[in-house]
Amino acid sequence: MKTHTSPARTLRSTGASAVSDQFTIQSHRGPYTVDFDDALLVDPARLLEGQPHFLIDANVVRLYAARLGDIVGHCNAIIIEATEENKSIEKAIPVLERLVQNKIRRDHTLVAIGGGIVQDLTCFAASTLLRGLPWRFVPTTLLAQADSCIGSKSSINLGATKNILGTFNPPERIYIDAGFLDTLEEKDIHSGIGEIIKVHAIAGVAAFDRLAADFDRLFTERAVLLAYIRAALVIKQAYIEKDEFDRGIRNIFNYGHSFGHAIESATHYAIPHGIAVTIGMDMANFIASMRGILPREHHRRMHPILRRNYQQFAATPIPVDALLAALTRDKKNTSTMLRLIFPVGDDASIKRVDVAPDKAFRAQCETFISELAS
Ligand SMILES: NC(=O)c1ccc[n+]([C@@H]2O[C@H](COP(=O)([O-])OP(=O)(O)OC[C@H]3O[C@@H](n4cnc5c(N)ncnc54)[C@H](O)[C@@H]3O)[C@@H](O)[C@H]2O)c1
Repeated sequence: MKTHTSPARTLRSTGASAVSDQFTIQSHRGPYTVDFDDALLVDPARLLEGQPHFLIDANVVRLYAARLGDIVGHCNAIIIEATEENKSIEKAIPVLERLVQNKIRRDHTLVAIGGGIVQDLTCFAASTLLRGLPWRFVPTTLLAQADSCIGSKSSINLGATKNILGTFNPPERIYIDAGFLDTLEEKDIHSGIGEIIKVHAIAGVAAFDRLAADFDRLFTERAVLLAYIRAALVIKQAYIEKDEFDRGIRNIFNYGHSFGHAIESATHYAIPHGIAVTIGMDMANFIASMRGILPREHHRRMHPILRRNYQQFAATPIPVDALLAALTRDKKNTSTMLRLIFPVGDDASIKRVDVAPDKAFRAQCETFISELAS
């Protein structure tokens, strides 16, 4: 990613939905703000306000040390390698110990600078240490800027089971500087775009088709990408404000995720999260059409863009037994049924559907996976 355009100009030039450079999300903790702040990397001193303890992604430290000098060198800075293994309860313990050694107090603030992994660890620490601490977030990946930064969730792995532990605890403030996207690897851009595709599919056929038509420009025009980051957050906002604790309508944001988490687990995290979610959406569409709950034309309509977004990983082997074992461990299941999210009916609306993990379902999974690599 090379170009960098001012977000305010971006919105006017693309005609995307008008949201201000700061908007507010309502939560059980009260309102919190998302700032589109493309001066943060120029002057990050505001992150030193209060009594901060920083948790910073090791790659961000490496790439941005000169610009984040006083933060990276801060006595209360903890550097985290962003791996799924480090997002486990076992690896969270040394981080919590460091914070205690650094004499963290209730009037101090945790500041996460990184992607979804650093976010999940920081949010979890903020929920559990001293029975609750305030935290702030500087998302540095596309996935975190366009999706995970809002919605309050922390998700921590336990053994082989992904995201089985967690809390709901929003940050006090989120600072989005798209300058961070300049250094992302291509796979991490596709990963973030996977989540942007997901929310647009949830918003309806027209929103998905608009995004599909703009797909190439997401990689070449920063203004267009910024407009879709904002649009994705605005779509998500409507759901999380109605159902922050994920007991009802917010469930549909798991579209692509039950399959996606199982794909991540079955491939030992060889596939980045948002790309596994993109394969998961294609798999959900394929299985829904095979089961007769989705007209086949919707699978055919969505497949080309989903495929382009996961193409780099289409040949990664996915063992079916491991996939099915991971699917049955999903925290949303009942004791006998898989609780999956599918597009359903003529308008491809995203709905929760309970499915028996029987022979027919297994055969549908096998067919999808065998066609994936072809
Ligand atoms: N809590 C939530 O609501 C939520 C939602 C979606 C996903 N998640 C979780 O988020 C994780 C995925 O997050 P992610 O995609 O942000 O990945 P990540 O945090 O693993 O980061 C991906 C890679 O990008 C690197 N990186 C970070 N910022 C960079 C930058 N500016 N330039 C170059 N490299 C940079 C990281 O070091 C890492 O190698 C998964 O564990 C997923 O389960 C959480």
